[in-house]
Amino acid sequence: MNKINIAIDGPAGAGKSTVAKTVASLLQYVYIDTGAMYRALAWVALNSNTDIQDDSRLSALLHNTSIELKPSSIGNRVFVNQEEVTEMIRSNEVTAAVSDVSAHAGVREQMVKKQQKLAEGKGAVLDGRDIGTTVLPKAELKIYLMASVEERAKRRHIENINKGRDADLQMIMDDIQSRDQKDANREISPLIKAADAIEIDTTKLSAEQVAKRIQDLAEERIRVV
Ligand code: DC
Repeated sequence: MNKINIAIDGPAGAGKSTVAKTVASLLQYVYIDTGAMYRALAWVALNSNTDIQDDSRLSALLHNTSIELKPSSIGNRVFVNQEEVTEMIRSNEVTAAVSDVSAHAGVREQMVKKQQKLAEGKGAVLDGRDIGTTVLPKAELKIYLMASVEERAKRRHIENINKGRDADLQMIMDDIQSRDQKDANREISPLIKAADAIEIDTTKLSAEQVAKRIQDLAEERIRVV
């Protein structure tokens, strides 16, 4: 059967990773969590006291760091220089730093190349902010997920409680709004809906409903490519 690439973009907390993971598993495709790659770099930068405002230092750090994503039932397990950092990259410190880290041109250039390589020649579902516009501009199916800020904050809050992480609803809402603002207003590859992306508002839908909708759209595309 033909395989396509699927780009899933949208703001923080719109449900991208849960949905992308489910779609990949339904279609038996590879799932690539591109946000986890930026988080991994933010984690190494914080741990090595690298200035997160300095593109050339961050780019050099990225050049010398191995970031690997390994498939698992909980999504991508993430390894930095062979050390597992899957949980650590979700900390509040990393979350607060990652939008700054990901705003740099040099960093993005390397990350985009890595992501394109990971998706090459196989059925892949990538989630992020610039997949449909920059990483895979020719993806056969592009989805833009969004939801109200309140709903996104509520979901993150529940997720954090379930995973035993710090969970203050107001703090989460502030963080989401600040990341939305930074991700949408940065100069390079800002978060923007690709012209040919299909927008799905997930505010009133379950992750399963959204995944099923994308699976149906994917199967339609697979039939015609
Ligand atoms: O999806 P996430 O919240 O784990 O992503 C973390 C940050 O990484 C997000 O604030 C913006 C950045 N990011 C990006 O700039 N481009 C991507 N393709 C994915 C994430």
